[in-house]
Amino acid sequence: MRVLLQGLLLLAACALPAGGLDFQPGSKAVGQPVFRRRSAVEQRAAHIVRRSLPSWLDASQHRRRRRNAEQSDSCKQHRGFQSKLNDNTHSFMFNDLSGSVSLAWVGDGTGVILALTTFQVPFFMLRFGQSKLYRSENYGKTFDDVTNLINSTFILTEFGIAIGPENSGKVILTAEVSGGDGYRLFVSMDFGKTFTHLDLPFNPLMQISYNPENSNVLAVLSTRHELWLSEDFGQSWKKIHNNVCLFKWGKKNSIFFTTNQNGSCGDRGMLELRRTTDLGKTIKTVATKIFSFGLGGRFLFASVMTGKGTLRMIHVSVDQGESWNMAQLPPVGHEQFYSILAANDDMVFMHVDEPGDTGFGTIYVSDDRGTVYSKSLERHLYTATGGDTDFTNVTSLRGVFITSILAEDNSVQSVVSFDQGGEWLPLRKPVNSKCDATSKDPDKCSLHIHAAYSTAMKLSVPMLPLTEPNAVGLIIAHGSVGDAISVLKSDVYVSDDGGYTWIKALEGPHHYAMLDSGGLLVAVEDNGEPINKIKFSTDEGQCWNVYNFTEEPISFTGLASEPGARSMNVSIWGYRENFISQYWVSFTIDFRELLTRSCDDNDYVEWLAHSDDISDPNDGCMLGYKEKFLRLRKDSVCLNGRDYIVNTQPTPCPCTLDDFLCDFGYQRKENSSECVEQPDLQGKVLEFCLHGKEEQLQTSGYRKIPGDKCEGGEMPQRKEIDLSKRCVSDLVSPELQTDGHSSKSVPIVLAVIVVLVLSIAAGVVFVRKYVCGGRFVVHRYSVLQQHVEENAADGMDEPLETNHAPNGKIEFHDDSDEDLLE
Ligand SMILES: *[C@@H]1O[C@H](CO)[C@@H](O)[C@H](O)[C@H]1NC(C)=O
Ligand SMILES: *[C@@H]1O[C@H](CO)[C@@H](O)[C@H](O)[C@H]1NC(C)=O
Ligand SMILES: *[C@@H]1O[C@H](CO)[C@@H](O)[C@H](O)[C@H]1NC(C)=O
Ligand SMILES: *[C@@H]1O[C@H](CO)[C@@H](O)[C@H](O)[C@H]1NC(C)=O
Ligand SMILES: *[C@@H]1O[C@H](CO)[C@@H](O)[C@H](O)[C@H]1NC(C)=O
Ligand SMILES: *[C@@H]1O[C@H](CO)[C@@H](O)[C@H](O)[C@H]1NC(C)=O
Repeated sequence: MRVLLQGLLLLAACALPAGGLDFQPGSKAVGQPVFRRRSAVEQRAAHIVRRSLPSWLDASQHRRRRRNAEQSDSCKQHRGFQSKLNDNTHSFMFNDLSGSVSLAWVGDGTGVILALTTFQVPFFMLRFGQSKLYRSENYGKTFDDVTNLINSTFILTEFGIAIGPENSGKVILTAEVSGGDGYRLFVSMDFGKTFTHLDLPFNPLMQISYNPENSNVLAVLSTRHELWLSEDFGQSWKKIHNNVCLFKWGKKNSIFFTTNQNGSCGDRGMLELRRTTDLGKTIKTVATKIFSFGLGGRFLFASVMTGKGTLRMIHVSVDQGESWNMAQLPPVGHEQFYSILAANDDMVFMHVDEPGDTGFGTIYVSDDRGTVYSKSLERHLYTATGGDTDFTNVTSLRGVFITSILAEDNSVQSVVSFDQGGEWLPLRKPVNSKCDATSKDPDKCSLHIHAAYSTAMKLSVPMLPLTEPNAVGLIIAHGSVGDAISVLKSDVYVSDDGGYTWIKALEGPHHYAMLDSGGLLVAVEDNGEPINKIKFSTDEGQCWNVYNFTEEPISFTGLASEPGARSMNVSIWGYRENFISQYWVSFTIDFRELLTRSCDDNDYVEWLAHSDDISDPNDGCMLGYKEKFLRLRKDSVCLNGRDYIVNTQPTPCPCTLDDFLCDFGYQRKENSSECVEQPDLQGKVLEFCLHGKEEQLQTSGYRKIPGDKCEGGEMPQRKEIDLSKRCVSDLVSPELQTDGHSSKSVPIVLAVIVVLVLSIAAGVVFVRKYVCGGRFVVHRYSVLQQHVEENAADGMDEPLETNHAPNGKIEFHDDSDEDLLE
């Protein structure tokens, strides 16, 4: 895992679509300006319609304890923290004028950080660049200049620092050989201590990609669209295939890739999906007429032309493409897209774009087969342009997701689901906040979360919502309180119970980070001014202390702490300027001394997740079970420590009909949990018939919600119906009817994605535009972006493997970048 402090220039072009665009036609990602919706957002501020709030939002009905959010009276300052922290603050100055810094943590708990700075002058078609490499072994307190290891070549920042999976200690840097002839890899197997280099027999199009199951095996596409593979960590390379548009690592060493016949990946709907399970020795075509494909959890998705005009549909395979089922989702046309918002081995959240350029679509949640879908949320905000969706998996509490809808009046409003998409509600108003000007009623309104969409709109939102699985229940996010999100205001809000209740924690935009598994929060205000203060809280954001880490303020670019929130060290990155130069500085603060003792049993309290009435035996049941956690008491000032593990005791709940989805051909009776046969099953919905094996066509109308572990209780009546009899239809084209018969491996469908290619082209356009804009030689101290493992700058081909939450992502903008997106 790594964090990049990197030029916004390239990230803006390459990383924006990382939100989950695989099923989106490339043309959308390119042509349209990113701020297309800005007018809608602005309008909203002036003219907002209040939504009627559900009664549960009325605070009086809620029996949970209330916190005292008034920080002044009840907050005790930590005694003598200033001197304790002074002794543990380490500043480091880089004798370096470079415009961007990429940071990467190598390994877990090793303290090794690589910092790559690049100074780049884009000069028409040529680039003059210089890279420097620094390495720290003490969590960033000091760095050594190890530029000699990369022998003064130019490392491509846009390909980033490729860190191997797990704790492999592997590092790959891709360098351009000066003079423009060829590319060189620098590879390390010892956490970046030593590097060897080798010249590539091709020009890479993207960052080298590790096989997640064997970090010695690497794959990459070349600029000529050849798929290249190395089985010996880059020492030797072989070409696997020509005309490859996109590839992805699947499970068990498999590689899926789309190919085109005629040399054009733009030939959407005509691509072939191929698979190799033996690293290229044998290759099998698993689907044809592919428009695009994606992987999520154990599901392989392909959107396939239906043969009816430009319509395409999603087909799903759970056996690596051997057999396919058609997903019970509406078909889409060329101008629309599908997107996998999140997926695990149980289920997938799928966004289906609405026809027309509306900026929204519908979220569907799948069953355990990935074929039958229930509508989860309508008017879900997802702009085609930059792939901006606020969809966030709240990884600190099971079943919780937050996203935004585009209301009828064009205002953007946040909603939360506590039951994996079953029901979506507005977020409750924080007790210590007042409704802002967007609300009709000064007492009734809700919290709205600023996420990727606000960032893309260039609102003053320096970070996305932050959650960590080991900081149970904790969410930190920017937001505003009203009837819709405010374009003018963003403050920091914190929830300690997975999004049920919130407090306003900090006024104005901040950068924030979680340390010690949530036991310590840190934040730095981002108001464009040079800063010298960091705030910290040991009680989940209720009280904050302010520490001056330096006398002389710095221009701040971002916070960096080891991914995983287990560290006690945080670095504040920025730069200083004088008349002739700018140089990078980092301040690393070790908070270990502040928390003088380790936590013991008395420091933890029992907490029942998803509960607001502990006397009700069914309280806290979520997806068939409830979980009690031991959590740190707010008033305990102690150290969880690096080895802290989340302590949970799950107990199963009795089943109710709400633990079941309606199966194919069934729908919920109005105002009831009962599933009844769809009256119009014969005829209309035939396109959705399952093409799977015989036994899958038997249904009792109910299926357990994926991941639901309820036991006993109310079981739905079982009456098996053979759907195959009902599905015979001449509406299903012969081609589609063959889909289920994998033995013939007859064409399903279409194909692939050009997004990658096109977006890289877009990146180039960006660079050119920037250059031609006449501002070259401006130093860019711009962006800190934290990536999850494979979310590389070419991020495009990764979003479908959405097991990795986009949560860690932090972006910092610099005003001078504003015009780049025009
Ligand atoms: C550095 O580059 C020079 C020439 O460019 C080469 O002779 C030398 O072997 C390289 N050293 C390393 C350590 O790669
Ligand atoms: C490739 O091009 C030829 C002629 O230019 C055309 O007949 C053929 O259908 C094309 N194949 C595909 C898969 O597009
Ligand atoms: C959401 O995140 C949690 C924690 O990382 C993960 O276990 C779960 O599978 C994710 N859910 C989906 C639908 O991706
Ligand atoms: C911290 O810095 C601020 C100015 O930025 C100053 O007013 C304040 O007195 C300083 N506090 C300490 C404890 O040095
Ligand atoms: C903080 O950094 C120091 C090294 O400077 C290291 O010994 C310590 O383990 C780090 N703390 C954590 C919790 O990572
Ligand atoms: C379902 O509930 C809604 C609102 O509570 C009501 O308007 C509607 O009449 C109900 N429908 C049935 C069939 O009871």
